[in-house]
Amino acid sequence: MKKLKVGIIGCGGIANQKHFPALKNNEDLNEMVAFCDIIEERAEKAAKEYGADGARVYTDYKELLADPEVEVVHICTPNVSHSEIAIAAFEAKKHVYCEKPMSHCTEEAEKMVEAWKKSGMQFTIGYQNRFRAEVQNLHAACEKGELGEIYYGKAHAVRRRAVPTWGVFMDKEQQGGGPLIDIGTHALDITLWCMNNYDVDSVTGSVFYKLGNLPQATEGNLFGPWDPETYEVEDSAMGFIKMKNGATINLEASWALNMLDSREASTTLCGTEAGAEIHSGMSYPKNELIYNRGRNGQLMEETISPVGSVAYFGGGSGEEGTIDNRQWLEAVLNGTEPLVKPEEALAVTKVLDAIYRSAKENKEIKF
Ligand SMILES: NC(=O)c1ccc[n+]([C@@H]2O[C@H](COP(=O)([O-])OP(=O)(O)OC[C@H]3O[C@@H](n4cnc5c(N)ncnc54)[C@H](O)[C@@H]3O)[C@@H](O)[C@H]2O)c1
Repeated sequence: MKKLKVGIIGCGGIANQKHFPALKNNEDLNEMVAFCDIIEERAEKAAKEYGADGARVYTDYKELLADPEVEVVHICTPNVSHSEIAIAAFEAKKHVYCEKPMSHCTEEAEKMVEAWKKSGMQFTIGYQNRFRAEVQNLHAACEKGELGEIYYGKAHAVRRRAVPTWGVFMDKEQQGGGPLIDIGTHALDITLWCMNNYDVDSVTGSVFYKLGNLPQATEGNLFGPWDPETYEVEDSAMGFIKMKNGATINLEASWALNMLDSREASTTLCGTEAGAEIHSGMSYPKNELIYNRGRNGQLMEETISPVGSVAYFGGGSGEEGTIDNRQWLEAVLNGTEPLVKPEEALAVTKVLDAIYRSAKENKEIKF
């Protein structure tokens, strides 16, 4: 099979944790031919470790986009730059895998979708949690109607103390927000995807700036104490989302919150036939999927742990970043749709943006 030529823009945390190893694991389908970072050593190091023979290093993303060999671009830069780089990439006729969230605001995300549609290229967003075995299992159950009509959901993205202390996560201008946009985005994505409902009616939100600037709150942070002086974003945020068909979702997101039940990239779904919960995150030593319903005169739970994998494509299973990457490369090679569709990621960004707006303006936001 033909190998796609991939260029990576932003060679920091997520590029090293997810993109480089996943692309390497799928080296039968691609080779990494170009690396870009404004910090040159990062791009140099990545090129040395993962690059194909003759891989190029750039410090300006425009030069990487002008490289005629590059066919696919992975955008792994802070949120605020996603739209500028993605739009330029579509204009340069590259396929784009952009890290989540699509953008820091609705307006920019809509411009990205418009540029993508004009370009005729492929586009997806980094919601790799959809490829976790328990999420695949739950989605398959929802598709088959095993939960009945799902009318209540909860998107969990709660950390007790896990403020990211590297990069620009605490910088409002670079990221657009804190835990809501950073991890709330994953929990909302899997919840909406399982409910298969993107028809939002209204959003109400509360955003808290209670612990970020308190020196005593930094105790016990998973990534070491953060600097309360430079902490600019929210430390927790709550959203109440009503869908057009009356279904309702609660979204809880925090990097720091005095709450015991800390779940991340998790969802709770309540349907007319059954309910289901995914447990993963700080409070849970392993990932679990629990279905609940009444049966034989009693309430019962069915726990799937460790969760068996659900073949998503070609019988494949394994680590979610690698599976996500493989289906993306196959979508580009075969001209098929990637699992994470741009319109779905746009809907997530619109809801998150509306939660911030609702909190700021102290009102319900109607869609
Ligand atoms: N999918 C996930 O689960 C997941 C996890 C973590 C981060 N992310 C996303 O990945 C993105 C990056 O996060 P990170 O943790 O890797 O941050 P990071 O700060 O560790 O890395 C970002 C890199 O981009 C470089 N950079 C910044 N502006 C640039 C530009 N204009 N051109 C080229 N390089 C530039 C920086 O020098 C840095 O090396 C964010 O959008 C974040 O939301 C996704």
